[in-house]
Amino acid sequence: MKNRSLISIDDYNKDELMRILDIAEGFEKNARQRILEDKVVATLFFEPSTRTRLSFESAANQLGARVIGFSDSNSSSTSKGETLKDTILTVCNYADIIVMRHPVEGSARWASEVSSKPIINAGDGANQHPSQCLLDLYSIRKTQGHLDNLHITLVGDLKYGRTVHSLVIAMCHFNTTFHLVSPDELKLPHHIKQYIKNHNLEYYQYKNIEDTVKHSDILYMTRVQRERFADPLEYEKVKDAYILSAEHLKDSKPNLKILHPLPRVNEIAENVDTTPQAYYFQQAQNGVYVRQALLSAILGIVK
Ligand code: CP
Repeated sequence: MKNRSLISIDDYNKDELMRILDIAEGFEKNARQRILEDKVVATLFFEPSTRTRLSFESAANQLGARVIGFSDSNSSSTSKGETLKDTILTVCNYADIIVMRHPVEGSARWASEVSSKPIINAGDGANQHPSQCLLDLYSIRKTQGHLDNLHITLVGDLKYGRTVHSLVIAMCHFNTTFHLVSPDELKLPHHIKQYIKNHNLEYYQYKNIEDTVKHSDILYMTRVQRERFADPLEYEKVKDAYILSAEHLKDSKPNLKILHPLPRVNEIAENVDTTPQAYYFQQAQNGVYVRQALLSAILGIVK
């Protein structure tokens, strides 16, 4: 993985994904190791973030790296009309690795094609969010003990949810059965359903959460992505399509865990937070270990 960008989750093969999870386990046992003391990590966030930016920065800081960057493109020269290419060519002079989030699909791939330094895609529009996917895999493996033969229910905005797109692609390595719960307007894109079929796996589509909870090992809730809708009225129609509450969990399997990439809006009621199935805040914590693994593997410090 040394010096290789991570733009889409299928840039890494199954062995490489598992290797990142194994390295992350080591960081969970000991997160404070000064192994990146001579490295500079740039975080370029052209779109808002709490977890992804701060967990990458925490990961880098705990390993001794310096962090530079911006959290708002209005405070960068993008606001003066600078192109993404020129920004990347410039930041390559200042950092050893670039973590970037951008609203345009394909922007991270484009950046990696002009960059002399590896790029980690921290989310490009509705396309991909591979580091989130790795922490989702880590969380699934940690809570279930393995990744194989699971029933995963994905709920909400399956059309625009980049975390969903990355996770479905990655879970195709593990003989997963997918249960897809969404309004008609927010169904999983055709090309990702085709990807599932190409791996000879099954998916089932539903309108109601109630139809799937009792069969699920993982319930992956998502926010309806207001920022991706061209028409605010269309967002209003579907924004509260699914609200998971503690009552939904009464017939669940003993191993069920609820994941959510966060932020949540209304889709998980607060009475779920104190149930044994709720795992979304621990999931966010796992992001630090996985991002430490990614930074140290791509910078060639850990093999
Ligand atoms: N999961 C995630 O990407 O969260 P942020 O938007 O807060 O980074």
